[in-house]
Amino acid sequence: MRQYIIAGNWKMHKDSTETRELCEAIRKGHTPDSRFELIVCPPFTSIPAAVESLSGTDIAVGGQNMCWESEGAFTGEVSASMLLTSGCKYVILGHSERRQYFSESDQLIGKKVQLALSSGLLPIVCVGEVIEDREAGRTEDVVGNQFDGIFADIDKTGFDKCVLAYEPVWAIGTGKTATPEMAEEVHKFIRGRIASKYGDESADKMRILYGGSMKPSNSTELLSQPDIDGGLIGGASLKAENFLGISSTVK
Ligand code: PGA
Repeated sequence: MRQYIIAGNWKMHKDSTETRELCEAIRKGHTPDSRFELIVCPPFTSIPAAVESLSGTDIAVGGQNMCWESEGAFTGEVSASMLLTSGCKYVILGHSERRQYFSESDQLIGKKVQLALSSGLLPIVCVGEVIEDREAGRTEDVVGNQFDGIFADIDKTGFDKCVLAYEPVWAIGTGKTATPEMAEEVHKFIRGRIASKYGDESADKMRILYGGSMKPSNSTELLSQPDIDGGLIGGASLKAENFLGISSTVK
């Protein structure tokens, strides 16, 4: 059985004070449950507040991005070891907003995945198609190419430490969720791709999260699909009741 992951991507929300409040509320409402792991990914400056507020719990903290180089003259960037030593266990890489607004390519994301792994961070790697691709029937081509590009130089040992997230770009922050069947189809396709590249054992173990307008009212159906192993949640992760409401639908 794969352990589910319910991860909150806070994006550019919550300063340190608000982070403490939200973490406190999540902590109070959460009962440890071996069926899932909870992760919160606040903005960089709020990571120490989250780590402190959640210490002594089983709730993990992750970054939302990191630099592709380990250190140096990269103004404005944050390194893998900085995230790790700040208390992060995970890092989200290749989110569609990074691709869209910061021109991140699959090759660059692949470099970041390699560095995260060699630094001891667990990457949550995002893939997903834009609406034009879906409407033109190119979803599997696009997602498959993203997968191949990102993982071109990553061996099985490294790959097995990753978590994947399928996030159809047209469903992110729009209130339009992929139907459970639509999401399951792509998750199944991704699992097949993993099996071809890394073998059945890796495919079987890999957690593939769904992201895109997940909320308590649609998470039961999404999370009950055989190849959906959790959620990467934006908007609904900013309120403890919604975030925990989603985790309570893990069966
Ligand atoms: P959303 O964001 O839940 O607000 O659609 C998901 C994400 O971008 O990870």
